Amino acid sequence: MSLQLRVYVPDHPLIKHWLGVSRDRDTPPFLFKSAMVELGRWLTYEACRHWLPTQETTVETPLAVAPATFVDPSQPLAIVPILRAGLALLEGAQTLLPLAAIYHLGLVRNEETLEASCYLNRLPDRFDSETRILLLDPMLATGGSMLAALEELTKRGANLELMRIICVVTAHPALQKLNQTHPKLTIYTAMIDEALNEKGYIVPGLGDAGDRAFGT
Ligand code: PRP
Ligand code: URA
Repeated sequence: MSLQLRVYVPDHPLIKHWLGVSRDRDTPPFLFKSAMVELGRWLTYEACRHWLPTQETTVETPLAVAPATFVDPSQPLAIVPILRAGLALLEGAQTLLPLAAIYHLGLVRNEETLEASCYLNRLPDRFDSETRILLLDPMLATGGSMLAALEELTKRGANLELMRIICVVTAHPALQKLNQTHPKLTIYTAMIDEALNEKGYIVPGLGDAGDRAFGT
């Protein structure tokens, strides 16, 4: 499959570790939630490379003047967690990007039709075209929920080239769909799994991320 969209699977021992914890069916909800928080943190860390805007300046150390690079606070930065499961990734991402504005988007997939519907939309009326948006959802299965999220975001002027998507497990059907519809996207994921089962769950995947994170 030749993809135009960029999909990064960082080769990082902590990402692999927490993916393994989250995949294990015997991991209890409190630990599963911690695994999502850690994956949110480390995948965001990887996504920030070459993405987070910086500015060059100097500082005075106790001994001399030194060059310094700071994160540029004047550039708009937003995080959009897709509820519910994206909330667990948010906790980790927010520790790295504490100044980002958070806009919640609640989507739920109908388990019969697999269609996503929106039950909460706290997006702004309009995004500045310079806004860097970090979009969080641990699972990309059929891709229906992500497409619904992207529709809401693009309606409001979101710049897809400046967007980074953070996922834990993505599946080929979702990537194929996104490649056809939104090839300018960049995705960071802990793993790409091949297939979905007849109920639209990623196999081997990690099960229902929202239920496992919140113990429901
Ligand atoms: C899960 C997951 C994604 C979606 C992925 O959410 O967090 O949003 O399913 O499936 P798709 O790619 O086939 O659309 P779910 O609808 O179960 O809601 P939840 O986060 O509240 O559990
Ligand atoms: N949603 C999940 O939480 N897991 C899947 O495997 C597919 C959709």
